Amino acid sequence: MKIGIIGPGALGTFLAGIIGQDHEVILLGRKDLPLNRVRISGKTDVESSIQYSINPSDLTPCIYMIFCTKSYDTKQAVELVRPHISPDTGVISLQNGLNNERIISEFVDPERVIGGVTSHGITYRSPGEVFHAGQGYTYLGLYPKGTNEHVYGFAHILQEAGMKVEMVDNIYGHIWQKVIVNACINPLTALTGLKNGVLLEHRELRDFMEKVCYESRDVAIKHTDLPDDDILKEVERVAEMTADNHSSMLQDIQRGRRTEIDCINGAIVDAGKSVGAETPLNHLLQTLVKGRELSSLRSI
Ligand code: PAF
Repeated sequence: MKIGIIGPGALGTFLAGIIGQDHEVILLGRKDLPLNRVRISGKTDVESSIQYSINPSDLTPCIYMIFCTKSYDTKQAVELVRPHISPDTGVISLQNGLNNERIISEFVDPERVIGGVTSHGITYRSPGEVFHAGQGYTYLGLYPKGTNEHVYGFAHILQEAGMKVEMVDNIYGHIWQKVIVNACINPLTALTGLKNGVLLEHRELRDFMEKVCYESRDVAIKHTDLPDDDILKEVERVAEMTADNHSSMLQDIQRGRRTEIDCINGAIVDAGKSVGAETPLNHLLQTLVKGRELSSLRSI
């Protein structure tokens, strides 16, 4: 089966490596790179042949297309690949952020839009090379609710590749839950330079994370049902399972790149405004990370 992956960052490269063990993978990027293999080390040890391309027409015909771009690039990416999405293609988002599936649904038949969240900790090393720092779970469902044969087929591909996958009826609730996890872990690690697990070891950081978690939860429950009653436990579980990882936001700062802060904490601030809920901590984190981003962009 031919599977397209859009975005050769940490997650896109990881998925290309594991899915490439059994399927033909096209990894679509922007830069012309001499890439035909992916190497994963750490908790997964895999090397696979893939096809890397900068030409969206190479995606035709794909049975599944997986979006792994940064969330601020989703609209541009879906516009680019839309002409190559056939009536049978299932389109999946496994990105961080709240609004990717909604944006994809504006261009693709909603019956084929699969929402997904994954909490693996993956560190980008170089083109085609990633380090798998922490195991995680992956949840999949038709966006915003339900499941169908497209979801089932894609879940099967990831399971065959060795991932722990669960199909769920309320993927929108899981997307919110993951956004809360990211809102707690990512900005604090990006601002402090610490690995995910260290946030649990320091009283002040742990207390701050707890406050961000509850502020975010109070917004989330006005929009959807959350899958777990104890959302703080889920934040702590992910930080523990990915203890050795540099979060994607910290990796962006380290590489002098734009972060996803607007699509994570910024999206919670906007969602709060739409229901009249105050979100001072998320707004503070958004402001500070944007300042940090500016200084790392300038120093490059
Ligand atoms: O963005 C990230 O880094 C990841 O979503 C996670 C799960 C927080 C692990 O670092």
